[in-house]
Amino acid sequence: MEKAVMPHGSWFVGCGNMGGAMVRGWQKAGIDLVGLTAISPSGRDIPGLKVVTGLPEGPPSWCFLGFKPQMLDRIAPDLAPAIGKDSVVLSLLAGVEAATLRARFPHARAIVRLMPNLPVSEGEGVTALYSPDADEQLRTQIEALHSALGFAPWCKSDDELVITSTVAGSGPAYVARFIDAFAKAGCAAGLDAELSARLALETVAGTGLMARRTGESMDALARRVASPGGTTEAGLAVLDEEKGVDALVRRVVEAARRRSDELAAAARG
Ligand SMILES: NC(=O)c1ccc[n+]([C@@H]2O[C@H](COP(=O)([O-])OP(=O)(O)OC[C@H]3O[C@@H](n4cnc5c(N)ncnc54)[C@H](OP(=O)(O)O)[C@@H]3O)[C@@H](O)[C@H]2O)c1
Repeated sequence: MEKAVMPHGSWFVGCGNMGGAMVRGWQKAGIDLVGLTAISPSGRDIPGLKVVTGLPEGPPSWCFLGFKPQMLDRIAPDLAPAIGKDSVVLSLLAGVEAATLRARFPHARAIVRLMPNLPVSEGEGVTALYSPDADEQLRTQIEALHSALGFAPWCKSDDELVITSTVAGSGPAYVARFIDAFAKAGCAAGLDAELSARLALETVAGTGLMARRTGESMDALARRVASPGGTTEAGLAVLDEEKGVDALVRRVVEAARRRSDELAAAARG
């Protein structure tokens, strides 16, 4: 496996919630970020990182785009002239396709789309990667850097990246809601709120860890908990109803997909 390195002269344009999570993940993985500068109009401190309020002298080697997708039209005209033929543009912008980015940054060496999720801050994230034009050497470097943050699979198309983002990118929000619902149900049944919240969190975290270590299928795992005619089976019967958890989660993912398509259409202009 290639060593994870942040190239010198790299920029993180817009390093908020998600960018900050990636930075914390790299710091925890022991990656030297001395060559990375965050560009943040507020000048907000990002521990361990050089922060500037305007664009430094270019060209950057790698240029991460970490602002909101709706800001692209405002930021690209100032940023594009700084992007040279050796600059790699790595975009976090949900819903903004590679061709749209290429039109905004025509001189870039490569356009790369990244779709990270928040647990990257703990080195336990998922970062889906897609590039129509990165060569093998660059792909290896990008994969090494993002594998330091967790699971970093390559996608074959913009479309595959979008689907990945509706599952893994948005996923922590959905899982958080599920944990909360679990906690509320325990509370409604009579448990102390704090205890119930802790039970729900530890149960979800422990189940994920166990499944990852054993490689067991979710179906087999559920069957190991539910003995025939028992209490868990009674609960699973509700989740497995026709309009139960599968149908609900499908609707959730479809709604995120629709919104992503709207953002992509707006970014195409
Ligand atoms: N949050 C997630 O879980 C997630 C997951 C996958 C992808 N993404 C993508 O990540 C991107 C950032 O999302 P976020 O949740 O991190 O948003 P955020 O916390 O609002 O961060 C956006 C950052 O953009 C900066 N910014 C605003 N105007 C700017 C300008 N003119 N030039 C440079 N930077 C500017 C802001 O800087 P100041 O702090 O200085 O105002 C802020 O730090 C989005 O494109 C989103 O689609 C997010």
